[in-house]
Formats: sequence, C-alpha cells, structure tokens
Amino acid sequence: METVYVSLAEKSYSIDVDSGNLEKIGPTLASFDRVSKCIVLTDENVNRLGLSGRVAESIADAGIDVCVLTIAAGEQSKAIETAATLWEALLDEGTDRRSVLVAVGGGVIGDLGGFVAATYARGIRFFQVPTTLLAQVDSSVGGKVGIDLPTAKNMVGAFHQPLGVLIDTATLQTLSDDQYASGLGEVVKYGVSLDAELFEFLEANVEPLQKRDADVLRQIVSTCCRIKATIVAQDEFETTGLRALLNYGHTFGHAFESLSHFSLLHGLGVSIGSICAARLAEKLGMVDADFVARQLRLHRALGLPTDVPPEIDSAEVLHRMRQDKKSVAGKLRLVLPTRLGACAVADDILDAAVLDVLR
Ligand code: GLY
Repeated sequence: METVYVSLAEKSYSIDVDSGNLEKIGPTLASFDRVSKCIVLTDENVNRLGLSGRVAESIADAGIDVCVLTIAAGEQSKAIETAATLWEALLDEGTDRRSVLVAVGGGVIGDLGGFVAATYARGIRFFQVPTTLLAQVDSSVGGKVGIDLPTAKNMVGAFHQPLGVLIDTATLQTLSDDQYASGLGEVVKYGVSLDAELFEFLEANVEPLQKRDADVLRQIVSTCCRIKATIVAQDEFETTGLRALLNYGHTFGHAFESLSHFSLLHGLGVSIGSICAARLAEKLGMVDADFVARQLRLHRALGLPTDVPPEIDSAEVLHRMRQDKKSVAGKLRLVLPTRLGACAVADDILDAAVLDVLR
C-alpha cells in the first residue's frame, strides 16, 4: 500500500492507494472520532457493480449505522436540483454533525457529495472513495467540491477537504474504455505540465496502460496524487497561482465539455484542450513544434482524442472560455506549457490566437 499525505494543518489527511483494499473502508471510518452514521452516496452504475454495496457492508461490519443514497449516473446529476434532493434526503435520514457522507463513485459523485457535505448543516464531514481513474488521480484530492451551471462547469462550489481518501485501483477494471481514457487524459496532463519523469514513464508504458496493468496503475495513481498533494498543500485556495497549474487544458476542455452538453467526458475534453494549449504555446513561441508533436504522439498512442469536434463553433468556445474562473475582467488567462513538465499561467491572450488553434 502507498500512503500519500496531504499536509493542511488540522485539515491534513491521508490518501491510501492499493489494490483490493475496498473493504478497509469500515475500519478506516471507525478510526475517526465520534462517527454517528455514514451516508454512502453513489450512482446507479457504481451501485450495479456492487462497489457501493461492499463499502456499505464494510461500514456496517465496523459497527457504524449506514444508509445508501443512489442517484442517476452522469454529469447532468451535478446540478442544484440533485443537491436539493440530497439535502432533503439527509434530513430524512436524521443526518447530524457527527455523520459522515461517503462518496463512492467518479468525479460527479465526489464533487456533488462534497458540495452537499459542505453545505448541509453548514458543513458535515465527508470521505472520498473514488472508483474512476479521473477521480482517483484528480477530483477526489484537494477539496474542490461543487456543481455545474447549465453553461459553466464547476461554477458553484466550495473548498471542503475530505477526512481521507481510499483508493482501490482494482475498481479501474470495471470502467468502460471511454471512462478509462478520460482518466488517462488527466494523467497525461500531469506529465506534460508538471512532471517530465511521469511523461517519460507513460511513453514507456503505453502497452501496460492499455491493458490496465495493476502495478503500473498503482504507480501512476500514487504519483499523480503525490503531485497534486504537494501543490494543494502550498496553495489550498488557489490564491498564489500554483494550484491553477493543475488546470492545463481545462479552460479549453471545459468549453468543449459544456458545448457537447457533457456527452464528451471531462478527461477527453481536457485531452483535446491540452493539445489546443500546446499549439497555442507553440504559436506564442513558448515551446517548439517537437514539443507539440511528442505530446500528440503520446495522446494518439493512448487512444486519446486530439481534434476539436467539427460541430463545435469556435466563437462559442471562446465565449465559454471567458467564463472560466481564472479569467479576470473577461480577459483570458490560460495555463500553457513552457517545456516538458513545466507550465505557467499566461495573461492577455489575444482572441485571434485562440481562434487560430481552434480552427
Ligand atoms: N482539478 C484541479 C484542482 O483541484 O485544483
């Protein structure tokens, strides 16, 4: 087992990464102070696979009262209507300040569950059990929780750190090819923008990654969590600009996602978005053509999308990009690569340059 520590003073927590460790959730939750009850939040897919049932059983075996709330799978659930239904459900279940919400699922469940936990009774504790690659390497770590507005992803939310994160990489064998590729989009993001060694490791392990090799997955998930934990520990609330660097490809990616009405999975939007960001950086003289070609090669080898879907209108993309939380006074601010494994926030990007890479 690998343990990654997120160092945030009294809000510090551990991320346990292993394979076949799902049943450790009960004893883990029992080790926290005064847990009166656990509410397991999951979606229909994860429920059907039996993962939330195993989590609930382990919690009950540890002597903690538990109930399971199941919502429809998909980004559409990350909305105020679902949050309102869940607030009512928590009330009906007699949730109190000693209760813990346990989010078992992908990024939607973790973000929505964390948001509901951050807001119910002015905040209750929550614990993350991410079951998709995307949630394991990114969204379950760092305490960003929230819901989408119809035209702006993650626009309403809070910073609410979990009590801890338990990652069982065996759950990755249950993912559809698209869900798995979506997670790989975020993994490659870490390599390109923050860790050249990880990028090289990915280049050298394309085949094991395609086969979802257990050892390679454990190694990659813990490396990504370690990169993210180091950044979050230094810039929890994204005020210094450091945490914003985790968003390479995201401003483009969020626009593609929302314009596709979320039929494009998050990590696939990020995959196309990071190629756009690399091309833009080349245009601005920040990286050379070889950098872009190398990134493209890895994306293609891993089966990740690289082209903007033809039905997506460039002017609409630009409009959505301006609504990004990094924008200031409507001016685009984008994370762009400066060399392999390094990136920076670039200000005052000209519309014409963005439109050029979109076409
Ligand atoms: N996904 C980027 C962050 O958590 O800051």
